[in-house]
Amino acid sequence: MKILMVCLGNICRSPLAEGIMKTKLPENFFVDSAGTISMHEGEHPDKRAVKTAENHGVDISRQKSRPIVSSDFETFDKIYCMDHRVYEDVISKTKNDEQRQKISLFLENVADRKNSEVPDPYWGDMNDFENVFQLLDKGCDAILNQLKTNN
Ligand code: 4NP
Repeated sequence: MKILMVCLGNICRSPLAEGIMKTKLPENFFVDSAGTISMHEGEHPDKRAVKTAENHGVDISRQKSRPIVSSDFETFDKIYCMDHRVYEDVISKTKNDEQRQKISLFLENVADRKNSEVPDPYWGDMNDFENVFQLLDKGCDAILNQLKTNN
């Protein structure tokens, strides 16, 4: 099972989601992350994201931002988008229904948050990053529960 986490810049939310997921990942699962914009390509995650992860014993410092590419729709089985804008952008890059079926909102499996977004913490403060971390942690658990029950 190959999972791709996607946000806008791939320097805040999706690197955190990737890092958190890696601490929980069953054997034979693979996780990566990407952004819908290439503005931060090659950069390490935002320092606040790195610090927040570190506070929880998760190391994301060596990750590097990359934009989503068309081969990701072949490589990955599941593509999770952090908010509606990202979801729409990712959908617009797909070629067929098979690819579209792989894509969902990151929080879709979290009870009472099905249609909600992981808020962008980029313009916020450390509290916003911590709240995002908690939400991502819940979302990762929910995704794994869902994938394990259906595989
Ligand atoms: P991310 O956060 O999508 O969670 O990585 C952002 C990073 C950069 C920008 C916006 C959001 N930006 O506008 O540069």
